[in-house]
Amino acid sequence: MQKPKVYVTREIPERGLKIIKERFETEVWSEYAPPPKNVIIEKARNVDALVSLLSDKIDAEVFDAAPKLKIVSQLAVGFDNIDVTEATKRGIYITNTPGVLTETTADFAWALLMAVARRVVEADKYVRTGQWKVGWHPSMLLGRDIYGATIGIVGAGRIGQAVARRAKGFNMKILYYDVISRTELEKELGAKRVDLDTLLRESDFVSIHVPLMKETHHLINAEKLKLMKKTAYLINNARGPVVDEKALYEALEEGKIAGAGLDVFEKEPTPADNPLLKLDNVVVAPHISSASHETRSKMAEMVAENLVAFFEGRQPPNLVNPEVMKVKPLSKII
Ligand code: GLV
Repeated sequence: MQKPKVYVTREIPERGLKIIKERFETEVWSEYAPPPKNVIIEKARNVDALVSLLSDKIDAEVFDAAPKLKIVSQLAVGFDNIDVTEATKRGIYITNTPGVLTETTADFAWALLMAVARRVVEADKYVRTGQWKVGWHPSMLLGRDIYGATIGIVGAGRIGQAVARRAKGFNMKILYYDVISRTELEKELGAKRVDLDTLLRESDFVSIHVPLMKETHHLINAEKLKLMKKTAYLINNARGPVVDEKALYEALEEGKIAGAGLDVFEKEPTPADNPLLKLDNVVVAPHISSASHETRSKMAEMVAENLVAFFEGRQPPNLVNPEVMKVKPLSKII
């Protein structure tokens, strides 16, 4: 039997790529930058499967060009770059890589939180650029306490909960906002479910962990930022468009909040002239929250496992659109 054809839009870690190459007829886009949309469309024409990254727009235009496409296996937990509704209509299976990146991503939310609250990046620059002329001063680079403060988790799914667990070690009061009640979190950590406005009013640190959807686009806008304490920090390592970046800049510039830690932006890569990058009370990173050697390898392995399961006629373990199985049952595909 002919091997299924797979197009992989970037060099993913070897642990997954090796499996894919062994099992499928594989082509990989080997440049560091993503393939342009027309390349994805061109490649999709002739393949049974795509391996995509969150920076690849996989929409109706791609699906229309790809009569043989059966599955898109995405190397990420978030899949807002994929038009899942359009995929489901056409009987195309979509998978992601949840779970394996939870702790790594939660670690990084904390890295941003601690860096901005204790001014780590500013302090590093201060020393390196020769500004450290006085050995010690009582008011040098003062930040804000983390221990014992209140953290507000916006979206208490897997990653939000992992962030909350770390907060327990810092003896923090934990508030969360979620569309569903997380009773385990309440029992285990004493977390309290509140509405978004209360969370914003009462938290010293607001950490965002919702997926990007129509309902969460600009969830944090000018009006919401106004509710936050002047001494509070906003952390976002979920998706950039959850925060209205222009409103965030204004809030920071006008001293309405104390600082922000951002791993994600409305447009990625964010342009070098993004005004947020001029502010010392903003710590930034280039969307690397899941970027550990261990986690990225596990993610790549999951990408491969989802493909292998599918082409063996089994339900992929991380199917995000299970309703597709009614549109095109597995028995009709393989
Ligand atoms: C990264 O942002 C992911 O969704 O995995």
